[in-house]
Amino acid sequence: MKAATLLGAAFAAATVHAGVRCRDLTQSRELADLIDQAKSRVIQELTDKENELRDRGETPSCTVKNLVFRREYGSLSKEDRLAYVNAVKCLQSKPPRTPESVAPGAKSRFDDFVVTHIQQTLNIHYSGVFQPWHRWFVHQYEKALRDECGYTGYQPYWDWPKYARAPQNSPLFNGDPTSLGGNGEYIPHDGPVIVPPPGVGGGNISLPAGVGGGLVKTGPFADMVVNLGPVGGLADTAPGPLGGLGHNPRGLKRDLGGAMNMRYANYTTVLQLLTRPDVDQFRIVSEGVPYTVEIGPHGGIHYTIGGDPGGDLFTSPGDPAFWVHHGQMDRVWTMWQALGPGPARYTDLGSGSYAHRTWGNEPPSDLAELGDVIDMGTYTLSAIRSAGTWYTTGTCATFTATPSGSGFAFTSNKSKCAISSSNALTCSFSITTATVFTYGGTNFKYGASSSFYATSAPTGSTQPTV
Ligand SMILES: *[C@@H]1O[C@H](CO)[C@@H](O)[C@H](O)[C@H]1NC(C)=O
Ligand SMILES: *[C@@H]1O[C@H](CO)[C@@H](O)[C@H](O)[C@H]1NC(C)=O
Ligand SMILES: *[C@@H]1O[C@H](CO)[C@@H](O)[C@H](O)[C@H]1NC(C)=O
Repeated sequence: MKAATLLGAAFAAATVHAGVRCRDLTQSRELADLIDQAKSRVIQELTDKENELRDRGETPSCTVKNLVFRREYGSLSKEDRLAYVNAVKCLQSKPPRTPESVAPGAKSRFDDFVVTHIQQTLNIHYSGVFQPWHRWFVHQYEKALRDECGYTGYQPYWDWPKYARAPQNSPLFNGDPTSLGGNGEYIPHDGPVIVPPPGVGGGNISLPAGVGGGLVKTGPFADMVVNLGPVGGLADTAPGPLGGLGHNPRGLKRDLGGAMNMRYANYTTVLQLLTRPDVDQFRIVSEGVPYTVEIGPHGGIHYTIGGDPGGDLFTSPGDPAFWVHHGQMDRVWTMWQALGPGPARYTDLGSGSYAHRTWGNEPPSDLAELGDVIDMGTYTLSAIRSAGTWYTTGTCATFTATPSGSGFAFTSNKSKCAISSSNALTCSFSITTATVFTYGGTNFKYGASSSFYATSAPTGSTQPTV
């Protein structure tokens, strides 16, 4: 055989290879440009807004100077990764705010977030509130890490395509002390099978298996105890007690692998997302076409994490990897919103089947509206808020008292206040009915009490005076 033929064959093979892989597994110039463009637009929009406020004589609080761009996990220094890991462990070591009567399985502040997600799963997926709910959820988690665990960084994200060939070897999951823990131990197994709900067409969807499947035995979460769930969606796993809210201690399992990640969350996927012309199409690419093999990068990466609780739609925030995945979900949405044209993408909630108040518009419901209240649960949020920040040393939060019934109600300048079932004074967006207090001569009173407490104060600072 002549050398030229061999070379020709080699070229042909290389071309096929490039056609399938390079486009999907290396970042194209087009995608890099779009990402840069999105970033400049965010800065431009904020600058315009600042100028507009200054022209009206107002002082903008959110400015280009205090704007923060979250960062890709692997691009953080080892010290910064360690600080993040330690903050997550700190949240896992703090007592829960969720009362026993609500979820006896909640054993830590970290678990409070898992409870909220379990309770709301059926309203916050494939519905109009999906993206904003999860954006706020990640923000509250980031806030808890900062306010309650002294973390000074921000929520990092998992840039899905970057390590798509072998996410288990990435800085996120390689099992180093600076990772989010390793993959599960390898046990031979089949990939997950999604079974369509009764009455819905389409066959079972078989997804590729990862290269783990067993318990996580390396890295900082090797000895982590999963307390809540599972609820549903995991084959071969019995549901936990009390609909997943009971205590069901067990080890963390993962099933990371390249097959699922490459198939559902590669660079082409992200490019497709950023170039979708409207929110309905964005959501179909992001969340998937119902009951087809196109499950989208949202589901694709949840199943890339897989295992327990990562593979359980309800309990998935119980795996620390949830938060970097949703950091990226939020990042991609942010970039798509900024790419415009114009500001419409910040307000248009779409009209497709994922734009309603119920899961995939089943049962049929109204379209979600911008005025809809997002329910973040009572136990997820920080206890006392004013202007969106904790008031720690020096300044007290500012509250307004308004006459109500036989007494008066308090509102912090962002939200209503109430005495929660754990007897703490809480002001949060999720409160719909403010508690009515009376005046006791010197202090305000609720029932027989004239002193109240917040469920927790940020580390190393004084509890706010109310
Ligand atoms: C789908 O999977 C379920 C659960 O494993 C099984 O009972 C059912 O027979 C499968 N259906 C088809 C069409 O293969
Ligand atoms: C990349 O993702 C797209 C869907 O976004 C998929 O159609 C394609 O097959 C994926 N590429 C690889 C190599 O799996
Ligand atoms: C809310 O109260 C804080 C503390 O007094 C103040 O700094 C902030 O400007 C107020 N925000 C609004 C929107 O009134």
